[in-house]
Amino acid sequence: MNEYIKHFDWNIVEEGFDPANNRVSESLFSLGNGRMGGRGNFEEKYSGDSLLGNYVAGVYYPDKTRVGWWKNGYPEYFAKVLNAANWLGIHVQVDGEELDLATAKVANFKRDLNMKEGFLKRTFEATLPSGKQVAVTSTRFLSIVDDEGGAIRYEVKALNFSGDIKFTAFVDGDIENEDSNYDEKFWAEVAKENTAGEAYLVNETLKTGFHVATGMKWAITLNGETQTPAIEVASKEKYVENSAVVAVKEGDVATVFKYITNISSENHPKTELVSKAKAYLAMVSDKGFEQMLAEQAEAWAKKWEFSDILIEGDTKAQQGIRFNIFNMNQTYTGEDARLNIGPKGFTGEKYGGVTYWDTEAYCVPFYLMTADPHVVKNLLIYRHNHLEKAIENAAKLGFKDGAALYPMVTMNGEECHNEWEITFEEIHRNGAIAFAIYNYIRHTGDDQYLADYGFEVLLGITRFWTQRVNWSVGLNKYVMLGVTGPNEFDNNVDNNWYTSYIATWCMEYTTRAVEILKEKYADRYEALVAKNNFKEEEEISKWSDIREKMYLGYDEERGVFIQADGFFNKEQILVKDMDPAQLPIVHHWSWDRILRSNFIKQADVLQGIYLFEERFSTEEIKRNYDFYEPRTVHESSLSPCIHSILAGKIGDEERAYEFYLRTSRLDLDDYNADTRDGLHITSMAGTWMAVVEGFAGKRVYDDGMLRLAPFIPKEWGAYEFNITHQGALLQVRVTEGEVTIKNVSDVALTVAVYDQEVTVAGKNEITVQK
Ligand code: BGC
Repeated sequence: MNEYIKHFDWNIVEEGFDPANNRVSESLFSLGNGRMGGRGNFEEKYSGDSLLGNYVAGVYYPDKTRVGWWKNGYPEYFAKVLNAANWLGIHVQVDGEELDLATAKVANFKRDLNMKEGFLKRTFEATLPSGKQVAVTSTRFLSIVDDEGGAIRYEVKALNFSGDIKFTAFVDGDIENEDSNYDEKFWAEVAKENTAGEAYLVNETLKTGFHVATGMKWAITLNGETQTPAIEVASKEKYVENSAVVAVKEGDVATVFKYITNISSENHPKTELVSKAKAYLAMVSDKGFEQMLAEQAEAWAKKWEFSDILIEGDTKAQQGIRFNIFNMNQTYTGEDARLNIGPKGFTGEKYGGVTYWDTEAYCVPFYLMTADPHVVKNLLIYRHNHLEKAIENAAKLGFKDGAALYPMVTMNGEECHNEWEITFEEIHRNGAIAFAIYNYIRHTGDDQYLADYGFEVLLGITRFWTQRVNWSVGLNKYVMLGVTGPNEFDNNVDNNWYTSYIATWCMEYTTRAVEILKEKYADRYEALVAKNNFKEEEEISKWSDIREKMYLGYDEERGVFIQADGFFNKEQILVKDMDPAQLPIVHHWSWDRILRSNFIKQADVLQGIYLFEERFSTEEIKRNYDFYEPRTVHESSLSPCIHSILAGKIGDEERAYEFYLRTSRLDLDDYNADTRDGLHITSMAGTWMAVVEGFAGKRVYDDGMLRLAPFIPKEWGAYEFNITHQGALLQVRVTEGEVTIKNVSDVALTVAVYDQEVTVAGKNEITVQK
């Protein structure tokens, strides 16, 4: 834990500059707008320790795989969303002396992320080695209105001198990924243009051939008056700069306005990138910084209207949840089905910005309830677009006849993870992808999705499971051998309960999808049967045979599902009895010791119980929770939220709150000592789930009805959230013993509150007592 962030409802604030925290702060103060993003680096030079990071959505590089011992089936490369051109740069020299916070004496340093309006502000005073003092205020944002760029206002006040301040504004495209496998650079220069006042650099990614034009246009004022100093231009490979000198007197404020853009060949023809960049910069510089900032605040206000959670009486919790929601909305806007959500979003290099099962299992529920349905639909279509590759991926491993195995990690549908126990065995990801389709439909009622896209994905996945099981003569059951469940601390196990359970559920749901298609979309169904060579009778009867005879381990004595064969052969130790100095075990124990231990990385059996809760009695849930949670070390950021929700379900409100705090302030308080690598974007969605599903008991079961059964943590006075369901938009307010539901849409909705069904008419509200 490292708790240096000050607590405010709407702001993330760091006071005082401690270089030891710089990488953590760079992650926390990241900005993004769905199309691009970057870490909270400084505009001026900084020669201390820093991870410079700027990323452009969808622009990746296939970095050649590095493994100790090659195994057949390993992917050739690991895709990385690349560290791209640095557009922040505004270097400052005072009478020839460089402003560098690593060498200057720094006072009153403050970074302040305004989440309500979507900008980052930094203020400080610096004494240079010569004794000259400046006060700096920088304000910057990536626009969610004009979303191909952003702007910086950088103000320097001469505190104790009169002299020359030289500003150098630049775009530096000579950037390397810190995690490059072979220390290679991934960008080559294509073109550049550099004139007084604006400059452009076009870089190309090696191998993948993406082009990105990064442009800047700048202006200077002195005490608010526009200046026209002589501008010097200079360039070198992958680099363009403009510089100008402003003469200041003591007390003067010189301000640089820098407008920037990243125009990517993902969205425009390569031949037009520079002209588009020019048009963008002409447009935003005409608008001006203040106007852009006002529009940014307005656009963020709209986002918050839909997705905010208000917590009264607990600033720490309030700040935590807003930080998570802010980052979810900075990372993914849902407008482009080619994009997805990397575990670190645009905030660091780790996990390479690629797509994991995190999207379906954690992010989908968040966007389903806080955004228009097309946002999740685009996430689902992303996987439909990758279906062919998933079939190829399965074929490489020996599966056939349209069986699809989605990758554990991907950019373009190809697998790029290369640890065999995960690549080949952590196949439960297929289940999460199928479940997300079901989840979308039960929330939106849009079963047309099955006809348009969903069925083909379900069929490919179900065919995979059908071939992945085998008949065991010993058990007289179907078994699934050699898998890794969500608990990555146990590999190559047989009969992981979660994986086998979700596999049979896929068979059940695909069968149901066939019924829906035959009933409602018969023509389309016929076309799908032909296209996918679907042998309805034969395949469905195979699925039902497997469903009936699948082995799902159950321990009679303890009354719990068995995580995997052999689990009870392990020495049974509880986390509470461990020497805390040994935690996290992933840092202190050998891998061999971890694998032989009974410690669980993240929800595994409990992940299944979470997804299919309505199929288990509360006693069953409690027994499994009471057994597995005490053995869980929560060494994945995805773990606490599921436990918070289940703790809420079984009435353990205190534990539910404890887990909530752990997820909501995971990055702000650096719980796992890894915020420096980037933020845990995908688990941030889980924090939202912990409030809405954990505390407010929001559920949607098979019947599609919205259910609520709220309680309020004793630390809170009240909380409010919005929820969209089947076309209705509800504002829910929970206080001790009471819940008020306000329907702000015109669509009436029947909701089960504490199991009592109430209908909230359009533009109406009701209050229900606990
Ligand atoms: C977790 C996985 C997750 C991945 C990316 C791992 O530590 O165990 O479940 O998909 O991180 O977030």
